[in-house]
Amino acid sequence: MKFLPCSLVLLFALLVHSQEAASKATCRNIPGSPEYPSAAEWDALNATLSGRLVTVVPSAKFCTTLPGGACTDDQWGSALFRSTIPGAMDQVNWEQGYDLSPPSLCLRNGTTCGQGDVPIYAVEAETVADIQAAVRFSSAHNLRVAVKSSGHDLLGRSTAPSSLLIHTHKFQNISFVGSTMTVGSGVYAKTVYEQGKTNGKIAVGAVAATVCLGGGWVQGAGHSALSPALGLGADNALEFEIVVASGELLKVNQNSHPDLFYALRGGGAGSWGVIVSATFHVYPTFNATSGSIFLATENNTVSASLATLHAQHVFDWDSVNAGHYMSVTRNTSTNASIFFLNIYMPNMTASQSMALLAPFLNASLALPGVSLLSQDFTYGDINDALFADDDSVGFNIVYGSRLIPTATYRDSPSMVGEVFEKLLESGATEILGLMVAGGKVAENANISSAVHPAWRTAKMHLLTAGTWDDSASLAEIDQIRHLFQKVQLPIIEEIAGPNAGAYSNEADVLEPNFQTTFFGPNYGKLSAIKSKYDPNDLFIVGAGVGSERWDEWGLCRV
Ligand SMILES: *[C@@H]1O[C@H](CO)[C@@H](O)[C@H](O)[C@H]1NC(C)=O
Ligand SMILES: *[C@@H]1O[C@H](CO)[C@@H](O)[C@H](O)[C@H]1NC(C)=O
Ligand SMILES: *[C@@H]1O[C@H](CO)[C@@H](O)[C@H](O)[C@H]1NC(C)=O
Ligand SMILES: *[C@@H]1O[C@H](CO)[C@@H](O)[C@H](O)[C@H]1NC(C)=O
Ligand SMILES: *[C@@H]1O[C@H](CO)[C@@H](O)[C@H](O)[C@H]1NC(C)=O
Ligand SMILES: *[C@@H]1O[C@H](CO)[C@@H](O)[C@H](O)[C@H]1NC(C)=O
Ligand SMILES: *[C@@H]1O[C@H](CO)[C@@H](O)[C@H](O)[C@H]1NC(C)=O
Ligand SMILES: *[C@@H]1O[C@H](CO)[C@@H](O)[C@H](O)[C@H]1NC(C)=O
Ligand SMILES: *[C@@H]1O[C@H](CO)[C@@H](O)[C@H](O)[C@H]1NC(C)=O
Ligand SMILES: *[C@@H]1O[C@H](CO)[C@@H](O)[C@H](O)[C@H]1NC(C)=O
Repeated sequence: MKFLPCSLVLLFALLVHSQEAASKATCRNIPGSPEYPSAAEWDALNATLSGRLVTVVPSAKFCTTLPGGACTDDQWGSALFRSTIPGAMDQVNWEQGYDLSPPSLCLRNGTTCGQGDVPIYAVEAETVADIQAAVRFSSAHNLRVAVKSSGHDLLGRSTAPSSLLIHTHKFQNISFVGSTMTVGSGVYAKTVYEQGKTNGKIAVGAVAATVCLGGGWVQGAGHSALSPALGLGADNALEFEIVVASGELLKVNQNSHPDLFYALRGGGAGSWGVIVSATFHVYPTFNATSGSIFLATENNTVSASLATLHAQHVFDWDSVNAGHYMSVTRNTSTNASIFFLNIYMPNMTASQSMALLAPFLNASLALPGVSLLSQDFTYGDINDALFADDDSVGFNIVYGSRLIPTATYRDSPSMVGEVFEKLLESGATEILGLMVAGGKVAENANISSAVHPAWRTAKMHLLTAGTWDDSASLAEIDQIRHLFQKVQLPIIEEIAGPNAGAYSNEADVLEPNFQTTFFGPNYGKLSAIKSKYDPNDLFIVGAGVGSERWDEWGLCRV
């Protein structure tokens, strides 16, 4: 193009100028900053977006705008319902500004409501051009950006105070071609299993209804009940379409932008741009048995013995590459616990699965203080086994986690039980064990991706959950938010070792050495890729690549 109209030249000059300013600015522009966009500039953006710019409020405030002035308990606790509200997170604590001064909270049925960490505006993107306009506007005006697909986000990375949210919920395209599946970044796992069944295919995906495979899940590595059989989500990713900080739409795969392809598979959710779609390898579907066993334990010592027994039997199901989940949930008034085991056995009938579990179950019931509450085994299409209609959410929850090496399970299973007992005795109410590594996850160690190498030698991802009611005081909440680092991590390190990694999607956002904890030896390479594709740190998330340069809110450089 030879001649640009004057106004375009001027606009271009202004953009270059403001982007230079943005790269040097200490802080992002927030309402009140001299360079924060004017009402007219927001209106112009809205016009570009065909009216898809909306103001955002916390979910509790949104409920007051409904007929009747309230959400029902079913609505409040539904991830599907919450995913339609731009300001809602599944874990409502991520909407709160506990650390703002003064703290800014908006609680259900509360009498006051602060905006907290909830963005100011959201772009309800429907097209790639919408995303590009939002990204370019944010760069030009030095705004804080947040990116959200469903809000199923355990570290609060889809929200940020004073930010512009780019919401990809409407990217619902899904197609199956040969042995591949392409999903828009707003497509839920439940849709993947529904459509997978129709198409005779199975994708490696989350065991939850509203996790978006093409959103944060794959960027964090993406574990699944099928991972021991078929690998991590990141191992199965073939291609991405992503809008990067420049506003360009890139097609990213092994041959095109291989460095970004590496980063998008395990390099951390939300740090690279806004994903439009992701393509995964999929497999012919097969039948499987999903089994659930609920056991009751009388006290913490019994819970520990059962955890040891589980650790001793954990290799019993490797021959069929089963993936499974276990949890211990303690009743705080009695110290009795519920031990839950949920297992997926590919190509096994119900009776074959029960036979494989019998040695563990029999030995469990032989322990004094353990009793069987219920068990259920269902055989059918693996897509049905993994399908969930909705996720039960709407609570205040924080997590902490570590990957536990296979060697611990082989060499010292009783240490696992001891650690469970210490965690329960020191106040843990819920411990989760995700047995989603080993097998194909270990075999895939030679795939070049940003997946933390600790995944390849792990047997389990161990999590502790900290929860509180809205009646908790700020001091109590603060204590719960820091319990993992102060009390639980030193205990867990007895089986994880001092330098164990953690899965960055299910973890403590307050990890002080998140670079090594979440990314291990890959951090240097990820940092370099970040500076190439996002030189001005437009995409910053808590404990994500580059976040060491920013404050807790991603608002000012430190
Ligand atoms: C954007 O435009 C639409 C349609 O005109 C309007 O309904 C909406 O309120 C506008 N958004 C904002 C933030 O002003
Ligand atoms: C809020 O009010 C609803 C009824 O509108 C009630 O069902 C719910 O239990 C209340 N929740 C809290 C946290 O007070
Ligand atoms: C979804 O698919 C339709 C039909 O193929 C296409 O026109 C549209 O651009 C796709 N949307 C996105 C966001 O990729
Ligand atoms: C804890 O145990 C007590 C006594 O058995 C019971 O009343 C209470 O409902 C239990 N709490 C929970 C959360 O299950
Ligand atoms: C539960 O365990 C804690 C920690 O050991 C102990 O202090 C408390 O007394 C126990 N409660 C009951 C009811 O046994
Ligand atoms: C299930 O069995 C089918 C047919 O034998 C086989 O192709 C497939 O790989 C098996 N799936 C798993 C996860 O083992
Ligand atoms: C488990 O116990 C049942 C009945 O108590 C018995 O029939 C079965 O043989 C036992 N299985 C194993 C593997 O010990
Ligand atoms: C825990 O329960 C077991 C089994 O009933 C019992 O033998 C043991 O004494 C109990 N321990 C404590 C500390 O209460
Ligand atoms: C899978 O299970 C269904 C019953 O749920 C059965 O009808 C079908 O034949 C099974 N398929 C295979 C490949 O075994
Ligand atoms: C990784 O190793 C397996 C054998 O374990 C081999 O089949 C595969 O081709 C290797 N992949 C790469 C990317 O080197």
